[in-house]
Amino acid sequence: MSKNYHIVLLPGDGIGPEVVREARKTLEALSPLFDLQFTFEERLIGGIAIDETGQPLPEETLQACRQADAVLLGAVGGPKWSDPTAAVRPEQGLLGIRKGLGLYANLRPVKIYPQLISASSLKPDVLAGVDLLVVRELTGGIYFGPREEGSEEAYDTMLYTRPEVERVVRVAAKAAQERRGKLTSVDKANVLASSRLWRQTTQHLVETEFPDVTLEHVLVDAMTMYLIRRPADFDVIVSGNMFGDIITDEAAMLAGSMGMLPSASLGEGRVGLYEPIHGSAPDIAGQGVANPLATILSTAMMLRYSFGEKDAADVIERAVERSLDAGYRTPDLAGVASPDQTIEIVGTEAMGEIVRNFLY
Ligand code: IPM
Ligand code: MG
Repeated sequence: MSKNYHIVLLPGDGIGPEVVREARKTLEALSPLFDLQFTFEERLIGGIAIDETGQPLPEETLQACRQADAVLLGAVGGPKWSDPTAAVRPEQGLLGIRKGLGLYANLRPVKIYPQLISASSLKPDVLAGVDLLVVRELTGGIYFGPREEGSEEAYDTMLYTRPEVERVVRVAAKAAQERRGKLTSVDKANVLASSRLWRQTTQHLVETEFPDVTLEHVLVDAMTMYLIRRPADFDVIVSGNMFGDIITDEAAMLAGSMGMLPSASLGEGRVGLYEPIHGSAPDIAGQGVANPLATILSTAMMLRYSFGEKDAADVIERAVERSLDAGYRTPDLAGVASPDQTIEIVGTEAMGEIVRNFLY
C-alpha cells in the first residue's frame, strides 16, 4: 500500500507562490516513482493573509498546519506591508507559525555545488571542501523576549533558558555525530549574560551527552570573519536566533545565491516546516524568473526529516545536480559559468520542469 502524506502549502508573498508551485509539481512527479501519495492544502500566511483576513497568521492556517504531516512555506513580506507603524506585519506570520508549531531547531545546510563555484564572490580555493550545517535556535532569544516599543525608547530582550539551549544544542550535536563530529557554538559571551548561559550550557551538555563530539566556542563577530576566511573548517554550527539569522545569510553567499539554500524547522511536535532561506524578492516577483531550487531542495529535506524517505530525497537532490550539470541556470546564477561551461538561462517554471525530467 502506498504511503500518504498530507502537506500544507503556505505560498505567501512575492516569489513565494511561484517557487512553491514548482516544488509541489516536483513532489507530484516523484509520487509514482516511489509509490508515495501526496495531498496538498493551500493556506494563507503573511501579507496576502493580512489583505484577506486582517491577520498575518489566521487561526485556520495554524490549525491546518498542526494537522498536516509537513508544511512547505514560500516567503512572506513585501513593500506593500512594510510600513513600520503598521499594527500587523507579514513577518509576524512567519514568527507565529514557528512558535505556534514549537519549531525550535532550524537546520540550514550550506553545500557548495561545484557547478556554481564561480557564482560565489569568494575565491574557489576558499570554497573547496565547504559542507556545513547551521542549526539556528528559532523560537527564543531576542526575537521573542520581552519588548517595549515607544517613540522615545524601545527595547528587545535576549532571553534564553537552560532547557531552550539544551534542546537545540542536542539537535546540533546529534547532527555533528552523524557528520564529521565537530560542533562550533556561536555566541557573544564576552558581553552578553544570555550568551554566557548559552556557552556554559552547551559546554556541559556536549561534555556529558556527546563526549565524541569536538566542541569549540566562537564569538559571533569573529565567526563572520571565519565564515568567509576558512569556511571549510566548519561542520555543524549552532547559535541563537538572531546570530543564526545573520550568519546564515552570510553563509548563503558561500553557495553563490540565496536561491540555492533550503531549510528545515523541527521541534517538539511531529510537524516540520520547510522553506527556502531566501525572502519574497518583491523586485522579481511575478516575472517567472525566481530560482525554485531552494524550495525544491526544501522538499528533499521534508522527505528526509519528516517522512524518512531518504531515497526519494536523494533523487530530488541528484536531479538538481543534474540540472546544473546540464548547464541550466536561473538568472540569479547567470553569468557565472566557467569558460568551459555552456549555460542556458531559464525561468522558474522551465527550471522546475528540467529538474522533474531528471528525477530518476
Ligand atoms: C529568515 C528571515 C526571517 C527571520 C524574517 C523574514 C522574519 O530573515 O528566515 O531568516 O529573521 O527569521
Ligand atoms: Mg534571515
